[in-house]
Amino acid sequence: MTSVTTQTDKIDFLGVPQSRILLDTATKRREELMATKADYGIDAPAVLRNFFLFAFLCFIAAKFVPSPLHLGPVLLGVRPMFLWTGGFLFVEGCLYLLYVKYGKFRHRDFILAFHTWRGDEQVLDVGCGRGLLLCGAARIIASVNGTGHATGIDIWSNVDMGGNAIVATQHNINVEALTNHCTLVSAGAQQMPFPDAQFNVIVSNLCLHNIYDAPTRHKALDEIIRVLKPGGQALLSDYKLTSEYAKHLRTAGFEVTKKRGSFWATFPPLAVVIATKPQ
Ligand SMILES: C[S@@+](CC[C@H](N)C(=O)[O-])C[C@H]1O[C@@H](n2cnc3c(N)ncnc32)[C@H](O)[C@@H]1O
Repeated sequence: MTSVTTQTDKIDFLGVPQSRILLDTATKRREELMATKADYGIDAPAVLRNFFLFAFLCFIAAKFVPSPLHLGPVLLGVRPMFLWTGGFLFVEGCLYLLYVKYGKFRHRDFILAFHTWRGDEQVLDVGCGRGLLLCGAARIIASVNGTGHATGIDIWSNVDMGGNAIVATQHNINVEALTNHCTLVSAGAQQMPFPDAQFNVIVSNLCLHNIYDAPTRHKALDEIIRVLKPGGQALLSDYKLTSEYAKHLRTAGFEVTKKRGSFWATFPPLAVVIATKPQ
């Protein structure tokens, strides 16, 4: 690492400039803070980047493309078109950022509030990512009674969640002081390594739509049905395909309702399928 010594820099008795000492102290403090703060990551980071990147490109195009553009005898007002598209993408990017930084915590609480917690529940978070719902459920369990447990499964895709790794999620569990209440398992939703009727509550947010082919997605739903106890509750949140999840669960005899998340705090707008397994 290179360091810059200014003429006003004081030098300590070992010959180290004071600016360097201050810089090292700030870096160490930042590292300490990061180690003590949970980080629930950025969902689909490439999507967020593309909103701002294409908005920026549209604004650049609006500045440099001649307007109106002459295409033979036709005059095209392309500048407003680029400005509107860029503005639209910029607003979408801001809403997405709002969800990542603020809305997802609000949406986590919205989802978890559909269950009446006793504290002794066995909970499964399908596609737990960095542990948003997993830690949320475990915190409720710990505060209510403490005998329950939350298990998170994931395939740790870095396309679907930035910095996704089992160690990153375990780090969040540790800094949230929930180590005794959480377990992580590396497994796909379509093939869960659990016996039948293991869980009282199954939660999932923005996971199932990532299983692109319908038969595999239906297998994942069948696994949710299989590992849920009779009378247990599934809370499945997503931005699309929620009608498909609801239909699949209804066909299996579940009692199903659907609720929309906050229009402003979730982007893309999310809906939650609330389904109870028959006794
Ligand atoms: C957008 S992230 C959401 C993470 C977390 N539920 C949240 O709300 O913060 C989607 C997660 O689903 C996981 N995932 C995708 N396909 C999966 C599959 N077939 N089985 C299990 N997890 C999967 C990804 O690895 C990722 O962690």
